[in-house]
Amino acid sequence: MSRYHEVYESWKTDPQAFWAEAAREISWDAPWEKVFDPESGVYGRWFTGAKCNTCYNCVDRHVEAGRAEQAAIIYDSPITGTKRTITYGELQDEVSRLAAILRDFSVEKGDRVIIYMPMVPEAVIAMLACARIGAIHSVVFGGFAANELATRIDDAHPKLILSASCGIEPGRVIPYKPLLDEAIELAAHKPSTCIILQRPQARAGMIPDRDHDWSELMNLAKAHDHRAGCVSVAATDPLYILYTSGTTGQPKGVVRDNGGHMVALKWSMKNIYDVQPGDVYWAASDVGWVVGHSYIVYGPLLHGCTTIVFEGKPVGTPDAGVFWRVIAEHGVKVLFTAPTAFRAIKKEDPQGELIRDYDLSGFKALFLAGERADPDTLQWAEGHLGVPVIDHWWQTETAWAIAANPLGLGLLPTRHGSPGVPMPGYDIEVLDEQGKKLAPGKLGAICVKLPLPPACLPTLWQDDERFIESYLARFPGYYETADAGYTDEDGYLYIMARTDDIINVAGHRLSTGGMEEVLAAHPDVAECAVVGIADDLKGQIPIGFVVMKAGAGRDESEVEAECVQLVRDRIGAVASLKIVMTVARLPKTRSGKILRGTIRKIADGEEWKMPATIDDPAILDEITAALAARNLVRGE
Ligand code: COA
Ligand code: AMP
Repeated sequence: MSRYHEVYESWKTDPQAFWAEAAREISWDAPWEKVFDPESGVYGRWFTGAKCNTCYNCVDRHVEAGRAEQAAIIYDSPITGTKRTITYGELQDEVSRLAAILRDFSVEKGDRVIIYMPMVPEAVIAMLACARIGAIHSVVFGGFAANELATRIDDAHPKLILSASCGIEPGRVIPYKPLLDEAIELAAHKPSTCIILQRPQARAGMIPDRDHDWSELMNLAKAHDHRAGCVSVAATDPLYILYTSGTTGQPKGVVRDNGGHMVALKWSMKNIYDVQPGDVYWAASDVGWVVGHSYIVYGPLLHGCTTIVFEGKPVGTPDAGVFWRVIAEHGVKVLFTAPTAFRAIKKEDPQGELIRDYDLSGFKALFLAGERADPDTLQWAEGHLGVPVIDHWWQTETAWAIAANPLGLGLLPTRHGSPGVPMPGYDIEVLDEQGKKLAPGKLGAICVKLPLPPACLPTLWQDDERFIESYLARFPGYYETADAGYTDEDGYLYIMARTDDIINVAGHRLSTGGMEEVLAAHPDVAECAVVGIADDLKGQIPIGFVVMKAGAGRDESEVEAECVQLVRDRIGAVASLKIVMTVARLPKTRSGKILRGTIRKIADGEEWKMPATIDDPAILDEITAALAARNLVRGE
């Protein structure tokens, strides 16, 4: 029997008592005055008046409790052939030394630090070192190009940047330092210091006075036993800013606090994922994404688990058996990844033959999120792994699951196609355009009744107005998730589509509007549209349509190739925009709105109706022909 309904009801009856009880799992420097203060912040704040330190709760607390010898981080990098285990005791040494170094460069509580790093343990150490001294980190995913990094530098105004000489992708080394240098060149704000981890695969050239060698600084700190202690911060102070795609090229700076974040994440480890302190937990993601923040770093470490830092891919490093190898070798109990990783594995090893080579007896559950989990992939994983496969739904904005099937509370019956039921803290309603609550089975905007639970964003970095306008304005009293869907009679949620221009490519959240801004900047492009269409491996991929300026006189294929390159250069390879096609005209309504939704339906082979307001119906025939010519219409 699942305890879910009882626990959800107990939260609903008295939310403050529920979270106060959960907060007992955290070490506080000073208690809160109010569990929730509706008068603070935009819609209220959690644990006002309390003092705490997230790094203390992730590291020192466990050392003091006797876990110094337990592995905190296992770094497994099949792409470089490296493995390394860092105990909680060693983590405390490394983090307190790096924190002292940051201090030496005048980084103080409230200052921002950007972390632009590949999947190496130093990235985690960097995040914790910032948390230790109350500095606010902002991790930028390594797959983003210089321009994206520059945008984040200009928004966050970091005093210092922590980076590495390179990242490694299958078959190629990606030097990070030239990207970092270019980003600082592009940005109006100039951080005074960069600390660079030199990796043997590519050494970085250093700029005198500004750039410093990570290992040299750490060796010096070790020699002098130079350490910084944990600084008490307000529970409501920011722990980090994580930029995520918005509807324009300007990303949104999602702010995470310290106190509420710890409380919710700690609760989730036991009650959603069913792991205990000492268990090995693996989120196969990247520290640049929210999944990495919450479930590579903070969740497992707050809970005293061992976390895996995996630098590799589900296939090709060296094969589709690497996930099973890591699970067996390190005794992973729970794996969390995006469905796309399983689609990649299934494609390479459809019969799951490589699974049989490994002892997976300690493996208890697979959790999936980041994009829709298609029933085929779910069933394949269930059939071959013989453990519960649990889809759950959340967003960068929330930091933890809005809906899940909580393993720790006892599983509810699984319904394929649904990421489960609302978690305590989330009162979910599906609303129509007028903000009226819809009955089960009716598709509408999925909204969360305010206040949001602990860990969810209190605002956007230095932009309350954009926060309100983006999330709270459309449906007063609610947080708008920008996902459309419905609930069934038993309260299970079904997530169908985004209501904005965000697409999910291989579990990565991208803005088609952002890509359009880049294409529109090409000198020969008059207008453009980017549409996310279904893809068997990545879930969705972007496709670009451009109309050339009259009289440009350019070869179409040349302009198309330049457009692809432009997006790669400005946003990064992660955008995965590989197809741009020139068309004579774009389909529009009479008021000039481009019919992106209709183009997507045509490509995805879905039924579509000719919009009554269309300017010229013949244009849709032209678009269909252009898609068909490239084999991009499903079912044809
Ligand atoms: N640094 C630099 N480049 C990167 C990068 C990084 N950290 N991460 C990805 N890229 C590049 C890739 O090399 C690729 O370049 P290419 O166009 O030259 O081939 C491009 O960005 C697109 O990456 P991706 O969409 O990840 O495609 P892929 O073909 O490299 O891998 C998967 C596909 C499915 C194997 C991979 O996306 C995956 O493992 N996903 C599941 C886990 C996950 O990361 N989830 C994220 C949130 S939970
Ligand atoms: P991100 O902020 O990158 O985590 O992306 C969040 C978005 O990914 C959500 O708003 C959804 O559109 C999508 N998403 C995440 N998890 C799921 C899921 N389990 N099922 C369907 N869509 C999901």
